[in-house]
Amino acid sequence: MEDMLGRPRTSGFSISVSVLIKYMLREQRLLFVLIGFAVPALVFNVFHVSTSSRIKHVSVAESWQSTELSRIPRRIAYELPEVMNRAGKVPLGLKRKRLRVVVTGGAGFVGSHLVDRLLERGDSVIVVDNFFTGRKENLLHQLKNPRFELIRHDVVEPILLEVDQIYHLACPASPVHYKFNPVKTIKTNVVGTLNMLGLAKRVGARFLLTSTSEVYGDPLQHPQVETYWGNVNPIGVRSCYDEGKRVAETLTMDYHRGLNIEVRIARIFNTYGPRMCLDDGRVVSNFVAQALRKEPLTVYGDGKQTRSFQFVSDLVEGLMRLMEGDHVGPFNLGNPGEFTMLELAQVVQDTIDRNAKIEYRPNTEDDPHMRKPDISKAKKLLGWEPMVSLRDGLPQMVSDFRQRLFGDEKEAI
Ligand SMILES: NC(=O)c1ccc[n+]([C@@H]2O[C@H](COP(=O)([O-])OP(=O)(O)OC[C@H]3O[C@@H](n4cnc5c(N)ncnc54)[C@H](O)[C@@H]3O)[C@@H](O)[C@H]2O)c1
Repeated sequence: MEDMLGRPRTSGFSISVSVLIKYMLREQRLLFVLIGFAVPALVFNVFHVSTSSRIKHVSVAESWQSTELSRIPRRIAYELPEVMNRAGKVPLGLKRKRLRVVVTGGAGFVGSHLVDRLLERGDSVIVVDNFFTGRKENLLHQLKNPRFELIRHDVVEPILLEVDQIYHLACPASPVHYKFNPVKTIKTNVVGTLNMLGLAKRVGARFLLTSTSEVYGDPLQHPQVETYWGNVNPIGVRSCYDEGKRVAETLTMDYHRGLNIEVRIARIFNTYGPRMCLDDGRVVSNFVAQALRKEPLTVYGDGKQTRSFQFVSDLVEGLMRLMEGDHVGPFNLGNPGEFTMLELAQVVQDTIDRNAKIEYRPNTEDDPHMRKPDISKAKKLLGWEPMVSLRDGLPQMVSDFRQRLFGDEKEAI
């Protein structure tokens, strides 16, 4: 379109836009307008973030019950004290937040000692156990504690609990027990671990798996370092346990890598102490019960195969450090002191009965020849190492066994 003089006609709108642009470009007005937008946006963002994080932390600390809150990842609980102190909201020196912890297999030997420690430090503990090898007697002393709950449940079935941490121990640990129903053992290790990882994912809890030195099988490397992949028979009578735990480790790592779940893996070496099952076929409990009953100590093979023996309080300390620390693992938790079966028999004789006899029997299938943890990683990253020697730990176990075998109250620990 042209005007009467033949010049191209400009619309009123385009004139005002070009005037506006020229006006804005003069004297850096555009810059001031942009700053005008940026400053309020920045203020809003900073204010919004700090308010919402404060709401989350305060709410999580006050209540786990509301439906809204069940969507907030529980790992916030770990950040709580640090954030609060930094922000100066809570006076320094206040105790750590009390956690809600589930211990699967908590009625068993290791689990019941772990429960005692967790309750002692002020946490609330829920034990989930099907009592296959665990006993209510291991937890009788806690039944009246208001922060303690005991649920009879098989981990092969899913369960929903509002917790911050999951210590997953449920699994028979002695060969006698895990070979009793091998299909159930592998189901416990695979389906049970899947269920507990599913729970960790759903409620945002941190998950710790108690794996085993058996993942190294009959090791070709000695002592065993965490980077060693093992020498395991996949079709042997122990495989339900060894391979079950290996799969459990795999699942744990896949949930961690793929779903960002906070996990920890402990590879536990032979552990002994009060509350072990009396006749579970594990060498320390066997020897102690036999010596107390005045029976010969049964040594399988030539007795030269070696094991390391860790006292249960050392293991529990290691598990708690692992759970609270920043490292996924796996970590070997065991006592590197190495004993042959015959040396162990000697310590038992010295502690209980110097005249106890030794009886040799043929070795069992797939029994590893030697087992000794390299614990350098746990020493360095968890600041952990065993404190209790066999000669100090054994008498505590002996007095517990004596009390259970003969009801000798005076001797009980
Ligand atoms: N004690 C050791 O020397 C040793 C060594 C290596 C690894 N571990 C691991 O440590 C954990 C605890 O071992 P422990 O010596 O206390 O054994 P344990 O047999 O005394 O305890 C295991 C507990 O798990 C429970 N349980 C088993 N199957 C279950 C299921 N399907 N559902 C619910 N509960 C179930 C049992 O009733 C028992 O209370 C196990 O995972 C074991 O593999 C122990």
